[in-house]
Amino acid sequence: MTLLNWIDFAVRGDARGSLVAIEGGKNIPFEIKRVYYIFETKEGVARGFHAHKSLQQVAVCVRGKCRMILDNGRVREEAWLDSPSKGLFIGNMIWREMHDFSPDCVLMVLASEFYDEGDYIRDYDTFLTEVCI
Ligand code: TYD
Repeated sequence: MTLLNWIDFAVRGDARGSLVAIEGGKNIPFEIKRVYYIFETKEGVARGFHAHKSLQQVAVCVRGKCRMILDNGRVREEAWLDSPSKGLFIGNMIWREMHDFSPDCVLMVLASEFYDEGDYIRDYDTFLTEVCI
């Protein structure tokens, strides 16, 4: 079992260039309630360092690249997000960290719920305790 569950988006390419369409419940395994994107991340900055109790997300690097670490409390895996045609599904109770953002990186995240600070687990030891129950 891998934590790296990729979604390959169909690219509608023609002579003018490329287009990807994302539809909740179709090529994303949940209804999309929220979209946010991370950009102009400063050199050397890492982000994330949390898990979600119930939120599901798909991360798509629409420009540039960054390195994603996923951790389910037993296994830690990492991958470069560097393609606008690939999404990384991140289920609930997965610790995530993002590192090594390129200066041009735009990381778009599709989320199954509205923002709720109460859904976050921001302490790794708390995450390990809750995920192993
Ligand atoms: P934060 O959770 O620190 O980002 P990350 O964990 O990805 O590094 O979010 C930064 C700020 O933005 C924080 O004040 C919360 C706020 N925020 C929202 O208001 N809505 C959102 O959907 C997200 C993801 C963050």
